Amino acid sequence: MIIENISHSRIDKIDFNDISFGNHYSDHMFYCKFENGKWKNPIIKPFGDITVSPLSLVFHYGQAIFEGMKAYKDKYGNVFLFRPLENFNRLNSSAKRLEMPLISKSLFRDGLKKLLSIDKKWIPNNYGQSLYIRPFLIASDGKLSANPSKKYIFMIICTTASNYYLTPLKVKIEQKYSRSADGGIGFTKAAGNYASSFYPTRIAQEEGYDQILWTDSSTHSFIEESGTMNVFFYIKNNLITAPANKKILNGITRKSIITIAKKEGIKVKECNFSVSELIYNLRKNLVKEIFGCGTAVVVNHFKKIGYKFKNYYLPNISNKKRISFFLKKNLLDIQHNVINDPFGWRFKV
Ligand code: COI
Repeated sequence: MIIENISHSRIDKIDFNDISFGNHYSDHMFYCKFENGKWKNPIIKPFGDITVSPLSLVFHYGQAIFEGMKAYKDKYGNVFLFRPLENFNRLNSSAKRLEMPLISKSLFRDGLKKLLSIDKKWIPNNYGQSLYIRPFLIASDGKLSANPSKKYIFMIICTTASNYYLTPLKVKIEQKYSRSADGGIGFTKAAGNYASSFYPTRIAQEEGYDQILWTDSSTHSFIEESGTMNVFFYIKNNLITAPANKKILNGITRKSIITIAKKEGIKVKECNFSVSELIYNLRKNLVKEIFGCGTAVVVNHFKKIGYKFKNYYLPNISNKKRISFFLKKNLLDIQHNVINDPFGWRFKV
């Protein structure tokens, strides 16, 4: 792999006490091209613009996928990734569905490890802080026919990460738009899944909500995800979440939360959960907590649910008593090497 180092790091200009999610990029980036049926010439170079033809298929037909992962430090400065094999596998399952070339494990691992070793100082030392890593794959063939590209670019960039949301969320149960459909690409991290969510989310925001609680596309009566997060409901001592099927993103935080909860003796139900059941339980004040989770957000609880012009409020309980806070702390403790990792999720870089 060719390495081109920057001449001056930008890190001294960053105030790590005043960062927001994704607004500062680390010094370097990993870049690799796919041509003539092969990934070739991987390189790490200074973060900067790339040149592609305006005809590139990514701009016209949206052949683009990505992953989200984080690098953490423990108090001794050791660097860890969290379940990186899961990201690698999901990237390739997205690539397969969008008819893009697969990435080899060695290309993914070596690019990631080298980039992190070069930009190690960008990983904050503080508990709860991390460096967000964005591997992505785009179609770069310059031709307008609507067919899969023959050329691609695979890149890894890193950004600062802090709280994705600053407060508990107000969320609207969506009754018109949908995030994914049967046979579609809901289970992938395709860029288009996110683009198509922006308009309904803006409408929800104009109505006073922060995010959407996505429901199934045919009946809008079953809950799927929320915003860019998987979603959990804590009702009568059961932690309920939709099953990770072909319409729902198989979130790595989601499955980690389920595993931790089960180990801690919390009853978890992965099942189709209907809007009417949720509203019934909200009316009866039986819903203790609702929270979303994902790599970027980690865990964020909801405070208000809107449905058919009526709002339902979640109980205002202290973090100490919150199951979502307990699960989040367990997860962060594993990620930052504060406690033993009984599941083998931490990967030392
Ligand atoms: C992540 O949680 O990593 C995601 O991909 C969501 C993204 C919109 C920040």
